[in-house]
Amino acid sequence: MMILKPIGVFDSGVGGLSVLREIRRELPHEDLVYVADSGHAPYGDKPLDYIERRALAIADFLLERDAKALVVACNTATGAAARLLRERYPVPVIAMEPAVKPAVARSRSGVVGVLATRQTLASDKFAALLASHEGTQAQVLAQACPGLVERVEAGDLEGEETRALLTAYLEPLLTRGADTLVLGCTHYPHLASLISELAGPAVEVLDSGAAVARQVRRRLAETGLLASPRGGREFFWTSGDPGRLYPVLARLWGDDIDLAPLPPAREGSRYR
Ligand code: DGL
Repeated sequence: MMILKPIGVFDSGVGGLSVLREIRRELPHEDLVYVADSGHAPYGDKPLDYIERRALAIADFLLERDAKALVVACNTATGAAARLLRERYPVPVIAMEPAVKPAVARSRSGVVGVLATRQTLASDKFAALLASHEGTQAQVLAQACPGLVERVEAGDLEGEETRALLTAYLEPLLTRGADTLVLGCTHYPHLASLISELAGPAVEVLDSGAAVARQVRRRLAETGLLASPRGGREFFWTSGDPGRLYPVLARLWGDDIDLAPLPPAREGSRYR
């Protein structure tokens, strides 16, 4: 059977492109539909029920576009809504997990720093992830990074403001001996070069994009949903201002893109 349905991927904005590019690398034949919810970013400082409502509205939209799987390319939305999405939608839901486990395994100093949004660090999921490392020798330090998502949304990947924020957020982690940094927000891999420059060559920087892409492949293979070999396409939608967002998205994606405005959320849903 030919599987022509796309994979639906979303984030509060352009951050999830760091996951989308890994999915594209892992699955070159798939069609990908990406929603950048930039009109509602950042999620990291919003209440949980707000993020849940956005996740449900976007999941409805993606299933209306026939998505055969949903990828929550956002750590904050994962903490707030992944369980709810799994309960409500009849498709595989693949979500993020900060790369704490590989970081603990690789760290030589035994001190790992996690950079993420306030909401991610306050989530039950993150508490459970930390608890799974209790009793080991590793020390896992969490650092919230308010303001960074906004810099990436503005396309400022190396300007003075971004540098000043990152310098302040890295300092307490590096002072306490962190030699491995986990990027626990999908916007931050777009800043990976700057983070490495500021942290120095002895510090390793990890994110979970590639692991999530492998998980997408596994779930599609298990459920018989992998696409037949052919050229995969990408379609981008945004709740933000497409004219403002286009240059940032196209630069981060590295190519010309097809970007359309996200229609307003409908009242009611087939899935609720
Ligand atoms: N990319 C989102 C994440 O992974 C950013 C959240 C936000 O919008 O604050 O957490």
